[in-house]
Amino acid sequence: MSDQVSVKAAGSGQNVQQPTRRDSILDVRGLYTYFYTDLGVARALNGVTYSIPREKVLGIVGESGCGKSVTALSIMQLVQPPGRIVKGEVVLHRQNGAGPTDDVVLTDLARHGVEMRHIRGAEIAMIFQEPMSSLNPLFTIGAQIMEAILLHQGVDKAEARDRAITSLDRVGMPSPKVVVDQYPHQISGGMRQRAMIALALSCAPSLLIADEPTTALDVTTEAQILDLMRTLQHDIGMSIMFITHDLGVVAQTADEVVIMYLGRVVEQAPVDPLFYDPLHPYTRALLRSIPRIGRGIKEKLQPIRGVVPNPYSRITGCPFSPRCDSFMEGVCNVNVPGITHLDDGRAVRCFLYSDRVEENG
Ligand SMILES: Nc1ncnc2c1ncn2[C@@H]1O[C@H](COP(=O)(O)OP(=O)(O)OP(=O)(O)O)[C@@H](O)[C@H]1O
Ligand SMILES: [Mg+2]
Repeated sequence: MSDQVSVKAAGSGQNVQQPTRRDSILDVRGLYTYFYTDLGVARALNGVTYSIPREKVLGIVGESGCGKSVTALSIMQLVQPPGRIVKGEVVLHRQNGAGPTDDVVLTDLARHGVEMRHIRGAEIAMIFQEPMSSLNPLFTIGAQIMEAILLHQGVDKAEARDRAITSLDRVGMPSPKVVVDQYPHQISGGMRQRAMIALALSCAPSLLIADEPTTALDVTTEAQILDLMRTLQHDIGMSIMFITHDLGVVAQTADEVVIMYLGRVVEQAPVDPLFYDPLHPYTRALLRSIPRIGRGIKEKLQPIRGVVPNPYSRITGCPFSPRCDSFMEGVCNVNVPGITHLDDGRAVRCFLYSDRVEENG
């Protein structure tokens, strides 16, 4: 499992680990992304730190507006003005054979430079939250997949077309030889989703970022697409960062889970302990708000009280404290808790587990 570096947290009595893990493909370290708008500064990310384990599926969960998509765009260096990364770094650990990893700091690369353009698509691919806007309505499905193959793989047009058909076939597209010449509006929503996945996988990326890839689909198609992604992840040995607000999908798909709240990670844990023994009060509240088999008929679902504050406001103390059932007066409303890495490989940001304070809070 994870091979992490343990250090002692100042003033906490707990073991904390530095964010870098030797089994991770990518590390996000202390990432701050702000949007400078006419309404003020929207602090979308406030020091996001987590690791994406190699050849596993990491689920990213949180309510709407907590910064899931902005984190993905920040990793890809695709945040558009008036937004920008103001602090922190994203490090990709390339694995070349059995030797040590070749580490690239993506946040140091020019956003539109040759190296970042190569990494986007060839090494890290992304399925965007809105598939309709990600596929170009003016080009056939085949032309769009071929463009990616021609850009990154140095093959001729005939070979690129063959590879496009193969990648459509691999994602379970019915009649790939027909679909390759069709336009996005000529195929169904589920088929478009498969075409998006085929496009993302056409260059065999080592990391796939999937932002709510199944939200717009019916449950049967959703189940097929989730199965497909798991199978491909296993066959190709790819790592997947899977963004969703649906804990049911996470239970079905992920090996590890990151829970985000208001631009910060509040908990990271392997999937089983997260569901059976959630640590953070926000994770517990999220789990109480979804239906579970075995819970009595009379037991009601409990929505999380209050709403996510807007990102323009500043809350003193822990950002979750106004909604928290374990709120401690004089503690939680004074400082922002720091992240504490526990000995079992889990991480949590809460004063129930440590008195560690966030330095930049
Ligand atoms: N272009 C922008 N201008 C201003 N604020 C923005 C912009 N894009 C994102 N934000 C803000 O950043 C915060 C995080 O947004 P993000 O899209 O990452 O949320 P999310 O977790 O992906 O939510 P959802 O589940 O609804 O997709 C939000 O509060 C949002 O309002
Ligand atoms: Mg989103």
